[in-house]
Parts: sequence; structure tokens; C-alpha cells
Amino acid sequence: MRRHGYAPSALIETLHTIQEAFGHISTEALAYVADSLNVPHSKVLGVATFYNHFNMKPLGKHVFSVCTGTACFVKGSGEIVEFMKSEYGLEPGETTPDGNLTFTVARCVGACGLAPVMILDGNVVGKLSIEDMKVRIREWLSHDA
Ligand code: FES
Repeated sequence: MRRHGYAPSALIETLHTIQEAFGHISTEALAYVADSLNVPHSKVLGVATFYNHFNMKPLGKHVFSVCTGTACFVKGSGEIVEFMKSEYGLEPGETTPDGNLTFTVARCVGACGLAPVMILDGNVVGKLSIEDMKVRIREWLSHDA
């Protein structure tokens, strides 16, 4: 904020910086930014919740996302969402009680040619059958058990 002279236009960059530093944007941080940039609290909350990129809750040690954009959904990514619910009890946006894993869904990540796409700790994995994806998820999670 200081770098930008506390200009209200620095809001998104400030939110990015907070997330980079802390992994998520807390309620306290939102209030601090609103007061410091002299922007209404409602606007800061609106911006932070509008963009999927911003996390309002702490993330787990690992983050697993499945793309539910059109191309991936047609190729069965919705089945992975159901699988995460039935196998691990996770709805999109939830973290396991031990804090080990956060499950999220993403809109198109720009890799439609690889559909269906999943992202494991930032690594894009695609062109797998739904059954292979399930195997991969189980393997990935069992390494950390
Ligand atoms: S729809 Fe999944 S990468 Fe585009």
C-alpha cells in the first residue's frame, strides 16, 4: 500500500500481496486494507469475494482442484467432484479436519485440450480417464497419510 501511496486503485494488488504473504485474506486484513486505502469495507469484501483467486479461509497443506469448465465437465470432471464428496467427505472449498487437504473447483484454467484437468498443488494433470484420476488422487493422498 505504501508503494502505491495508499491509492484506492491499489486494492487488488494489495489483496494479492496479502494472500501471497499469508496464504489467505482474513477478515481483519480486509478491514485493515479498507481503512488504510480509505475504501468502503463492502467494496473490499466485494472485490475479495468476486475473484476466485482470493482465499478467505486458510488453505490446507495441499490443494487439489478440479476444473469444472465446460470442456472438462463434458469429459466427466463432475464425477470427480462427487468422488471427493463420497470418498473424502469434501465439498468444494472445504478442508479436511486435519488441515492436510483443501479441495476446490476451478472454472476453465485454459488447458481445455487436456480435459479433464485437475491441479495438484499447482501442477496441472490432464488427459486422464476419470478412473485414472481417482487412482491418482488416492495415490497422491496416501503418500501424505
Ligand atoms: S474447461 Fe477445463 S481447462 Fe478449459
